[in-house]
Amino acid sequence: MDLIEAIKARHSVRHYLEKSIEPEKIEQLQQLVAECNVQSGLHIQFITDEPRSFGESLLARYGKFSNVKYYFAMIGIKDDKLDETVGYYGEQLVLKAQTMGLNTCWVGLSYKKIGSVLDIAEGEKLVCVISVGYGATQGVDHKRKNPDRVSGTDIKTAPQWYKQGVACALLAPTAINQQKFKFMLSDDNKVSVKAGIGFYSKVDLGIVRYHFELGAGIENFEWA
Ligand SMILES: Cc1cc2nc3c(=O)[nH]c(=O)nc-3n(C[C@H](O)[C@H](O)[C@H](O)COP(=O)(O)O)c2cc1C
Repeated sequence: MDLIEAIKARHSVRHYLEKSIEPEKIEQLQQLVAECNVQSGLHIQFITDEPRSFGESLLARYGKFSNVKYYFAMIGIKDDKLDETVGYYGEQLVLKAQTMGLNTCWVGLSYKKIGSVLDIAEGEKLVCVISVGYGATQGVDHKRKNPDRVSGTDIKTAPQWYKQGVACALLAPTAINQQKFKFMLSDDNKVSVKAGIGFYSKVDLGIVRYHFELGAGIENFEWA
């Protein structure tokens, strides 16, 4: 499965099987976490065999999660770009996990912070986590906005690569499925995307930016 197939196949999954993730896959994911941390300056941590964050707490039950033992803790130095960077790199982990036959869910609220397993340095913040594991199901398809609602540029007359970028962005996970983002194409092939006002909308922005790059092909445009 390539990354475009992963975009199409991915849905949020909150119920997992008891099945453990194989050591080779854990190693591969740890490797990708290390690469993402080098590129981004983030301090992402892959937490394994730790069921307490999604244990019998009220929040976990409210969020309807079960059997979560593995998650990525999305940590980085507090600054204006932190949420967006977390979105951009976290979605690389999500799609890679999908290609490996695993399932995921971004989680902003429904987990308990277990300080003893996390390494959060002075000046850093835990933005959110991403659960990962073998899903009890593959999740379900959700209603998506029409492309013209998330593009300031007329979709009908836009180049094919732009349409494909927007289509992939629309398949991205966003907090409460809000899809509050807007793309725009300028005459010199520069693309911009802005976040609307909403819960975790800057994390969403990073996520949709990564999906757009995969759909449009990074060789076809530049970010404004
Ligand atoms: C930044 C972010 C935070 C999220 N937080 C939660 C959460 O706290 N609890 C939860 O059950 N789902 C959470 N989600 C998952 C979204 O509800 C889900 O992505 C959205 O409904 C679209 O569904 P899909 O991922 O299956 O396409 C979050 C998603 C994102 C991107």
